[in-house]
Amino acid sequence: MTTIGIIGAGHIGSQIARLSLANGYDVVISNSRGPETLAELIAELGPRARAATAVEAARAGEIVVVSVPLKHYRSVPVEPLAGKIVIDTNNYYPQRDGHVLELDNESTTTSELLQAHLPRSKVVKAFNHIYAAALTTDGQVAGTANRRALVIAGNDTDAKARVTALLNEFGFDTVDAGPLKEGWRIQRDTPGYGPRRTAAQLRQDLAAAKRYADQRARGGAE
Ligand SMILES: NC(=O)c1ccc[n+]([C@@H]2O[C@H](COP(=O)([O-])OP(=O)(O)OC[C@H]3O[C@@H](n4cnc5c(N)ncnc54)[C@H](OP(=O)(O)O)[C@@H]3O)[C@@H](O)[C@H]2O)c1
Repeated sequence: MTTIGIIGAGHIGSQIARLSLANGYDVVISNSRGPETLAELIAELGPRARAATAVEAARAGEIVVVSVPLKHYRSVPVEPLAGKIVIDTNNYYPQRDGHVLELDNESTTTSELLQAHLPRSKVVKAFNHIYAAALTTDGQVAGTANRRALVIAGNDTDAKARVTALLNEFGFDTVDAGPLKEGWRIQRDTPGYGPRRTAAQLRQDLAAAKRYADQRARGGAE
């Protein structure tokens, strides 16, 4: 049975654990404080979920989800993730994460930072623009009219195909924004960030997205 490793057991990490288990995956999940602090969550998730350290979750997962506050991305273990698909859910909130110069000047994107930290992993951006609660309420079977879609971005075609299949199992269509450097099109303060959108609507949102500098010039961003 395929195991999903999860680094970060908060709003998003715990929801991805629930979806993974509901779709037949095993789960190894971790946080910063240690596996013993996840006893309540594991009791809820059941016997196919196990709490572990981040290194153990990284080792155990065939696919590993990173869902921690962005400011902690450098603590994600590198070696055990080599060669693996790493799903990056993270967003940049300066008031939470502190200022990151390369993100403020838009010379890179959040998922490119994680990819640079994990040079031998195949990072795919996903789940960053859906509220955690909606992950377990908005999914629908493939072929449902007006099914909700989620954006992915990544530099590895095979990894994106695998994540697309996973999203489909979880109940969502997928829209591919292109390589990681295009991930800014679904970052905070873009049209597709947050609302329930179909694939066709999300494609319009991605096309209409503006960089922060452009938004500021128009007087529309902080
Ligand atoms: N909340 C949403 O609806 C939502 C939606 C889309 C994307 N996101 C993004 O997804 C990421 C996670 O968001 P969240 O709302 O799930 O955050 P959260 O509820 O605050 O949970 C963060 C989790 O990360 C863990 N963590 C922190 N540092 C860690 C480390 N060094 N190693 C392992 N685990 C670590 C925390 O563990 P401890 O509690 O032990 O410190 C906690 O379990 C953020 O970047 C956020 O912007 C959030």
